[in-house]
Amino acid sequence: MSTPSIENIRHILVVGSGAMGSQIGLVAALAGYRVTIQDISAEMLAAAKSQLASRLQANVAKGKASAADADAALARLSFRTDLAAVADADFVIEAATERLDIKQEIFARLGELAPPHAILATNSSTLGSSKVAAASGRPTQVCNMHFFNPALVMKCVEVVRNEATSQTTVDTTMELARRFGKEPVLINREVPGFVANRLMGAIQKEALGPARGRHRQPRGHRLHRQNRARPPHGAV
Ligand SMILES: NC(=O)c1ccc[n+]([C@@H]2O[C@H](COP(=O)([O-])OP(=O)(O)OC[C@H]3O[C@@H](n4cnc5c(N)ncnc54)[C@H](O)[C@@H]3O)[C@@H](O)[C@H]2O)c1
Repeated sequence: MSTPSIENIRHILVVGSGAMGSQIGLVAALAGYRVTIQDISAEMLAAAKSQLASRLQANVAKGKASAADADAALARLSFRTDLAAVADADFVIEAATERLDIKQEIFARLGELAPPHAILATNSSTLGSSKVAAASGRPTQVCNMHFFNPALVMKCVEVVRNEATSQTTVDTTMELARRFGKEPVLINREVPGFVANRLMGAIQKEALGPARGRHRQPRGHRLHRQNRARPPHGAV
């Protein structure tokens, strides 16, 4: 199966309209793409629609976007509870609930219904795309495209390949992230937490260690304390 060149990507499907999916959809619409946001929950879709409209209005009020650009972005967005729009999607970003069974089912349907050239990316923070690649039936066209919260603001996008991901899929996904105005980082191996969350986890552990009583001083510091002259008995 051939993947599209970046120039041929016109329609992007975002699956899931929660905290991440709704903003990823708006990022893509602001970058000039036609976007369908799909969710099984009509309530979530309605909430996403009104939140995105308010965000655009706020951006206009703050002078971050012109009213014409905001209207145009809104006009490029559609909201659906069914998956019909996948039939002419060139690129899919799955941002549904973080459950493997749900994602595998979604990727099986996407694999069946999407045009052969479409790339299927997952925004999952913890599930590598290798876990859904087989279900899609097109493993070379599957990768993680991991945005950070809030997706409208955060510049970093991690593109994580699995062992089957083709170079064309990687290159197209990296370039799409750039066209979204993001700064993509390529991760060539599926490692738990990818890179940014893994680093954040390590930093938090180090920073919170003393508060949780688990902090060990560096060896030099411990020796220094042991060798220090002891205060006279009874002294503080
Ligand atoms: N929240 C974050 O900070 C964050 C950051 C980066 C990545 N992520 C990833 O993004 C994904 C979504 O996270 P979120 O925080 O937006 O979740 P969320 O709970 O806000 O939204 C998930 C949405 O998926 C919908 N959904 C469930 N099953 C579906 C299906 N079969 N088809 C279509 N839609 C379906 C739900 O109705 C809901 O609207 C997860 O994979 C998560 O790991 C989250």
